[in-house]
Amino acid sequence: MTDRLATIRTAFAQHFWKPVDRVVRAPGRVNLIGEHTDYNDGFVLPMDIERDVMVAFAPRPDRHVVLHSLDFGEESAFSLDDIRKDEEHSWSNYARGVAGELEATGLRLRGLDAVVQGNIPIGAGLSSSAAFEVAMALTYLAAANLDMDRVQVALIAQRAENLFVGMQCGIMDQFVSALGQAGHALFIDCRDLSYRAVPMPRGACVVICDTMTRRGLVGTAYNERRQQCEEAVRILGSVLPGVRALRDVTLEDLAHYGGLLPEVVRKRAAHVISENARVVQAVQALEAGQAELFGRLMDESHVSLRDDYEVSSKELDLMVGLARQVPGCLGARMTGAGFGGATVNLVLEEAVPAFVEAVAAGYERATGLKPEITVSRAAAGAGILA
Ligand code: GLA
Repeated sequence: MTDRLATIRTAFAQHFWKPVDRVVRAPGRVNLIGEHTDYNDGFVLPMDIERDVMVAFAPRPDRHVVLHSLDFGEESAFSLDDIRKDEEHSWSNYARGVAGELEATGLRLRGLDAVVQGNIPIGAGLSSSAAFEVAMALTYLAAANLDMDRVQVALIAQRAENLFVGMQCGIMDQFVSALGQAGHALFIDCRDLSYRAVPMPRGACVVICDTMTRRGLVGTAYNERRQQCEEAVRILGSVLPGVRALRDVTLEDLAHYGGLLPEVVRKRAAHVISENARVVQAVQALEAGQAELFGRLMDESHVSLRDDYEVSSKELDLMVGLARQVPGCLGARMTGAGFGGATVNLVLEEAVPAFVEAVAAGYERATGLKPEITVSRAAAGAGILA
């Protein structure tokens, strides 16, 4: 972290010929369990990872925002009085959208110069975009000497992604990036946005295995899943008064009335409803120190995502299958929206080196791809570094 801090500070001075004011950092996340539940008013249990987006900035006297991305080697600039999409530098649209949403609340921002740098792999399901949005929200607020409640920050970042970027994501990623706590996972109720930090187990590590596959159509398939969930709610709501979201439907309800749903919609609902129940159980397991039970719930979550929600891929299934064969692996599942990206695994500390070796070798043998495997502790949520 200190190396990157020094690098971004130097890059800022070289690019803008003036000193940095402050540096903001916002982490990516890995979701331990509770996939595709957030937009169903459900429960999730993500944690922040030791990968983040950093923004070094200094305010300007005018209303111009000049962003320089070290990763893309590109600059994108705009006026806060005329915020439009930049088709050429699409990475900047997250920052543009966040500025627009902050101003839409009635706040008046200041212009700024900024250098952006991240080390969260893009498209791996580890929330690089949410981290960038949250980092930019904190940057704009700091540059204008404004303060805002972190839950509001998360909501604004999500709105920017929904309305400006056009991805109908839920609240999980922005929320945990803005509010996560070191050493803890965050249990979030996505209906009322209450949350509780849950300590990560001792003696077991979170291992992230990136399949190095990316799917371009994630956004489309994601929005389609959302619509299918809404259809389930519409139909079930007509026979079950009080059902506002799949959060309100039990497995018994589904057993009773599932026949009313088109088969594919019934399967989507079955995943969401069972996944919500798994998250609640998983939190209890963590709090009771039952890491094995937690791991089993992760395994079940993967099966449900693969068979009922149909958002896995053959590479994700392969990675999970390889992980499960390694002694000391307590649980393995895909993480994030799916279709490509990474898996999350809970592995006993002493088994980690053998796990990494066996999974990397097996995956490369089968696919010809070199997976990126990292162990991450639960990192702290976003903040101003210096
Ligand atoms: C993406 C979205 C989240 C969530 C997950 C699936 O990461 O941004 O809101 O829906 O997919 O759990």
